[in-house]
Amino acid sequence: MAGAIYVETYGCQMNLADSELILGHVAAHGYTTTDDPAAADVILLNTCAIREHAEERVVGRLTDLARLKARRRDLVLGMCGCMAQHHRAAVAARVPALDLVVGPDAYRRLPTLLAAARAVRADAHVPIRGGRRDDATAAASRVADVDALVDVRLDPDETYADLPSARAAGAVRAWITVMRGCDKFCTFCVVPYVRGRERSLAADAVLAQVRVAAANGAREVVFLGQTVNAYRDGDCDLAGLLCRAADVPGILRLRFTSPHPADMRPALIAAMAEVPAIAPQLHLPVQSGSDVVLTRMERGHTVADYRNLVARLRDGVPEIALSTDVIVGFPGESPADFEATCRLIEEIGYDHAFLFKYSPRTLTKAARWDDSVDEEEKGRRLAHVIALQEQISAARNRRWIGRTVEVLVEGAARRSPGCVAGKTPQFLTTVVAAAAAPGTCLTAVVTGATAHTLIASAVDAAPDDRAPRAA
Ligand code: SAH
Ligand code: SF4
Ligand code: F3S
Repeated sequence: MAGAIYVETYGCQMNLADSELILGHVAAHGYTTTDDPAAADVILLNTCAIREHAEERVVGRLTDLARLKARRRDLVLGMCGCMAQHHRAAVAARVPALDLVVGPDAYRRLPTLLAAARAVRADAHVPIRGGRRDDATAAASRVADVDALVDVRLDPDETYADLPSARAAGAVRAWITVMRGCDKFCTFCVVPYVRGRERSLAADAVLAQVRVAAANGAREVVFLGQTVNAYRDGDCDLAGLLCRAADVPGILRLRFTSPHPADMRPALIAAMAEVPAIAPQLHLPVQSGSDVVLTRMERGHTVADYRNLVARLRDGVPEIALSTDVIVGFPGESPADFEATCRLIEEIGYDHAFLFKYSPRTLTKAARWDDSVDEEEKGRRLAHVIALQEQISAARNRRWIGRTVEVLVEGAARRSPGCVAGKTPQFLTTVVAAAAAPGTCLTAVVTGATAHTLIASAVDAAPDDRAPRAA
């Protein structure tokens, strides 16, 4: 037994999927998983570099976890993911207890790296004999005195397609990474620098993962990629991949995130319109409602292009739910630019939005520009769009009251005893007063709505014939 590993994940769904991959890979090398850092032999933080705030949280958490080393000197403390790639030197300097730094393309080598880091730690405190170490121990301690072990080589061919994932058995939703990296280089974004170039998994490898997920109880699959609609394996694009996945028995719903607006091809919209398993929901980041800002962000589309795309989506998929990402306070964002963003948010009427203050990221183009909107003004703009979106989400959700929806149950509702929670096809969280196993599709009538949740009562509590059977 190699020991117990604890992994804590920050950032996006791709990082969560990577953590499952890491756990699956090291399990194949004898590690067990623990959810208690105090019981672990190895602690790994899978980190995000997208905004400064995300990085500060990780430094704070690493510093906390480093205290466990007072009792457990052989404990290995490691950092992987995007921040490991981005700010490795700075973090290693701020957290001297860090033993291991592993970038997103180096996970295949983790078992070897962990073994090396653990050997260094184990040797680092061999008791000193007679006041001085013997030769072997002295050599090891010299190794221990230098920086953390670092492997941040980016590999344009690495997709991990052949590695086993520790995707939770029984989970209703499986997140499956179908492409890695990003070639877009939006001027604010660090992802292309920390995740490297775009590369797709072979369609057969993806479909094999879909089948395994279905066999383990998944009823919904979400395909992941930073520009997921850039997916391509020979003739098979994302539309083709979704159509093939729709044929996998047991899979009721398919989603994908995040598509780039400039790459939303007609074939993908047609697939969404025609294939019933592809859920009527899309996360379509817009970032800004001003052409001046979009141009400086180098997003590759105008506001008019985006509007036009939304019109085509709503035309093809009338009940589609839309969500987005917006950055406020981008360098040079004027009050009029910000106002244009607010108007676009209102006009589109997003069901949900992730709203961010611009955070300069080293390596990116925009980081070289004057961060011209001050923090206070960024905060004010953020508060304004958050309040605006709350109203819009609440109004969008109220439209569902009185309508019948299909809720794919994920488990017990956290704050409503006796109720289950799940999602509608539109990805709206819905609480239903019913007892039903995870994976069951409940037909329910919506009786109430807040900005974040629908409340519904089951009209047919019996699991329908597509529900998973007991093993
Ligand atoms: N690949 C996705 C976005 C991934 S990052 C896409 O292109 O749509 C998720 C979101 O984080 C982005 O959409 C953007 O809104 C936000 N983001 C990225 N870099 C940022 C930065 N430097 N400051 C603030 N928000 C940022
Ligand atoms: Fe970042 Fe743009 Fe790539 Fe999205 S498309 S990950 S925002 S560079
Ligand atoms: Fe963060 Fe990396 Fe995802 S920077 S948002 S964890 S790809």
